Amino acid sequence: MTKLIEIKNLRVHFDVDEGTAKAVDGVSFDIGENRVLGVIGESGCGKSVTAHSILRIVPSPPARMAGGQILFHPRSNGGVQAPPVDLLTLDPKGEDIRKIRGKEIGMIFQEPMTSFGPLHTIGDQIMETIITHDRTSKAEARTRTIELLRRVGIPNPEKRVDDYPHKFSGGMRQRAMIAMALSCSPRLLIADEPTTAIDVTVQAQILELLRELKEATGMAILLITHNLAVVSELADEIVVMYMGRVMERAPAEELFNNPLHPYTIGLLHSIPVLDGPVVRLEQIKGSVPSPCALPDGCVFHPRCDKCRQGVCDGQEVPELKEISPGHWVSCFPQPGGRGL
Ligand SMILES: Nc1ncnc2c1ncn2[C@@H]1O[C@H](COP(=O)(O)OP(=O)(O)O)[C@@H](O)[C@H]1O
Ligand SMILES: [Mg+2]
Repeated sequence: MTKLIEIKNLRVHFDVDEGTAKAVDGVSFDIGENRVLGVIGESGCGKSVTAHSILRIVPSPPARMAGGQILFHPRSNGGVQAPPVDLLTLDPKGEDIRKIRGKEIGMIFQEPMTSFGPLHTIGDQIMETIITHDRTSKAEARTRTIELLRRVGIPNPEKRVDDYPHKFSGGMRQRAMIAMALSCSPRLLIADEPTTAIDVTVQAQILELLRELKEATGMAILLITHNLAVVSELADEIVVMYMGRVMERAPAEELFNNPLHPYTIGLLHSIPVLDGPVVRLEQIKGSVPSPCALPDGCVFHPRCDKCRQGVCDGQEVPELKEISPGHWVSCFPQPGGRGL
């Protein structure tokens, strides 16, 4: 598998009134070309901050990139593979990261209204990204925009291209945002809770669309969600995050069949179905702590039904260890436990 992006020990801290919020505190994972990596975890555990760090759009201050590397492997140029670029070393306002945003890495957000301004038509906004990145003529950008809108399933794109965002339904705006993200054929698409704000039938259609686009374009997808049913539809591999750390990581089927971390097991027990009610993690007691006051030892220990006093609540943080090929867990060994 050819690696596209490697996140190594990423740490992003926010200096806030209450102290230092360790939103991301030692996250590592990589994504191969044309692979879908799902990142799951409760709200507030650092999923979006991780995604925004890749694009360098975390507001700083209050954020501090406190450590790590984000290695992005550029397109090979005539068969010659250039060395990877550490995105964390780039100036967040500079030319280099701007070339990567959109062109190499596209992003779709939970709420499409935030990516389209209300004052310009959907078409003008997509055309602008095409013209900026590819320096095409206006006429060519318009043709490409109409094609993209057709491709993401917007009916009558020749007309809809001139509509303002408020004329689009939630699902159609989501499709238009995907069209915008695809406009420069990115090699990685970051989809942050792409189906959370839309109704259930449309959710299934958007997932199907992402799957088709992945097959057709060969792009990789970083799919962030708190909804396990969503990742189970699409992901090749899954990373489970809790309080800025990776608790477990495994190929999707392995994670569902053989979850090892008590947090993952809790999440799986609370699996919401696509047409089910709002996610409620009733299987996991308590609630997420403040990122300014993370528990010692394993961050999950106060909520863990397998917690062992003197081990899990000590000073030592459990390492992320590979217990079978591709299956990584960050949990202290349980006596007689499941292979940990
Ligand atoms: N702009 C910000 N200012 C201060 N703290 C922030 C900011 N954005 C995120 N955080 C901190 O980072 C934590 C993780 O946020 P986020 O990545 O959005 O969680 P998730 O996407 O997993 O729900 C939050 O709980 C908060 O403490
Ligand atoms: Mg988020």
